Amino acid sequence: MLEGFKGNKKVVMLTAYGYQMAKLLEAAGVDLLLVGDSLGMVVLGYPSTKQVTMEEMLHHTRAVARGAKNTPIIADMPIGSYDDPQLALKNARRFMEAGAVGMKVEGRVEEVIRALIFESIPVMGHMGLLPQTADRHALVGRNSDDAERIFRDAMAIDKLGVFSMVLECIPEQLAKRITENVSSVTIGIGAGKYCDGQVLVVNDLLGMDESFKPKYVKTYANLSETIKKAVMGFKREVESGDFPDDTHSFH
Ligand code: KIV
Repeated sequence: MLEGFKGNKKVVMLTAYGYQMAKLLEAAGVDLLLVGDSLGMVVLGYPSTKQVTMEEMLHHTRAVARGAKNTPIIADMPIGSYDDPQLALKNARRFMEAGAVGMKVEGRVEEVIRALIFESIPVMGHMGLLPQTADRHALVGRNSDDAERIFRDAMAIDKLGVFSMVLECIPEQLAKRITENVSSVTIGIGAGKYCDGQVLVVNDLLGMDESFKPKYVKTYANLSETIKKAVMGFKREVESGDFPDDTHSFH
């Protein structure tokens, strides 16, 4: 997957959790859709990604697959779903039946990555900030020991044959060093401009939550305002009796 991108064309990945959004993202030409376990926070209202279950991820993967029939869908394996290679394989197969074509796993889980790739299941790694195990959402890899460890971990999973890896919340020079040394395609979020591609949580890019604005998120729309305005317009017109008018009624 993603053959020909590295060094030639930036990869554009976005998260998707539902049918209509997946359809829109496909129409806009996104290269890859990630059913991220950020689902837990932005759709299900959990405090972190740690509460997300396999059943929830499968439900949303199926919805995304119904909306985007021509875009590769990567499933983010939720915490607890890939504790050992056998469990990972069983759950990866369930995701593939739901419409995913590749799996994302967090961290240096070498046995799991090896087992999935051995069964011809494409794997996307995830290095840097690892939300499934991190205590807080913050930049990592700032001191040289951490940076070295992240670099070594990235090299190790690259050697196993991951086709891509997400680099989350690391200094851009570390992301640059990793990108220049791995053969897989790096996709950054909070990792600067040298990555081979970029990913954002689609709700963040669309400005759905005005209380969540980390430094690495650029909002390309202000949907929270747009939605509130639209709903207030509806409320006003229902209350005043202006809606439904003649054109929106059957005669
Ligand atoms: O769950 C998610 O949305 C992710 C992306 C932020 C990469 O892992």
